[in-house]
Amino acid sequence: MKKRILTGITTTGTPHIGNYVGAIRPAIELSLNNDESFFFLADYHSIIKSQNSKLIQESVKDIALAWLSCGLNPKKTCFYRQSDVPEILELTWILNCVTAKGLMNRAHAYKAASSLNETDPDKGISMGLFSYPVLMSADILMFDSTHVPVGSDQIQHLEMTRDIAARFNHLYKPLFVLPEPIINAEEKIVPGLDGRKMSKSYENVIPLLGNEKHLKKSIMKIVTNSLEPGIPKDYSDSTIFDLYQYFANTDEINEFKNSYEDGISWGEAKEKLFSSINAELIPIRSKYEELINDKDYLNDVLSDGAKKARVLALDKIEQIKEVIGITKIS
Ligand code: TRP
Repeated sequence: MKKRILTGITTTGTPHIGNYVGAIRPAIELSLNNDESFFFLADYHSIIKSQNSKLIQESVKDIALAWLSCGLNPKKTCFYRQSDVPEILELTWILNCVTAKGLMNRAHAYKAASSLNETDPDKGISMGLFSYPVLMSADILMFDSTHVPVGSDQIQHLEMTRDIAARFNHLYKPLFVLPEPIINAEEKIVPGLDGRKMSKSYENVIPLLGNEKHLKKSIMKIVTNSLEPGIPKDYSDSTIFDLYQYFANTDEINEFKNSYEDGISWGEAKEKLFSSINAELIPIRSKYEELINDKDYLNDVLSDGAKKARVLALDKIEQIKEVIGITKIS
């Protein structure tokens, strides 16, 4: 059977280098295979975390631009906004009705939020946060996805999706495909400026869509030890080296290792990292500049994507409604 790959990107924030090497680049590579791919902007997921409408609007644009600038081909991939496919929300409700509350009680995101509360365990917890995995299940099951590339923090949600699908299939009719996760090994370890995982919440990111000066300035802020030039350095304990590996080939990596042993200065090492990242970003940046002012193109791409997605979603939701008994009076 042909694989159908689907993944969603929550539209909060602006993409950084960690997102690029951990999620965007591998997903686009996957989309170049012969499989079918579906990538979507999970904007209904974003309102769980943020009520800042301006930020969400900007983030939808930034993320769409980032994916397209990095080479996503919207002719080959179905690229759409979750909110443009309202059948997903219909399915969410239907799935809510076959999902055990106890299953949702065990969801990490909900448990983490709840465990921060001292007295009232429900303080600040919306139904959206609580039933977040059901919306994600609807995203996945709507399109008969067979494979879902996700970060390690999302594996549990995928297990829940399989549970929910199996429950529905058992109660009604086997309409849903049970999806497999594709776990990206690189995602966990991309370090940020301070050596911890690159993440917006640590304020240690290198932005993906900044200009050249911006990129250089970020890289110069990478934290190092205070070893002087000429003193051999340990590449296995260096954020600069770790980042370099994502942008260089084997020969270049070996050469860089030798420079560490020969006592390269931190300034020079940063220059080298800058050149390699910059070389990869030059075409991305120029595509970005071409697209940023073309909001008609962006809107057209997303509306074409939604059209393609809705053809499938409408057919699927009709079958689903029929098996649950919500259908024409006969
Ligand atoms: N919850 C995912 C995340 O935060 C985003 C997402 C929403 C998703 N729906 C999805 C990922 C469906 C894969 C499949 O990363």
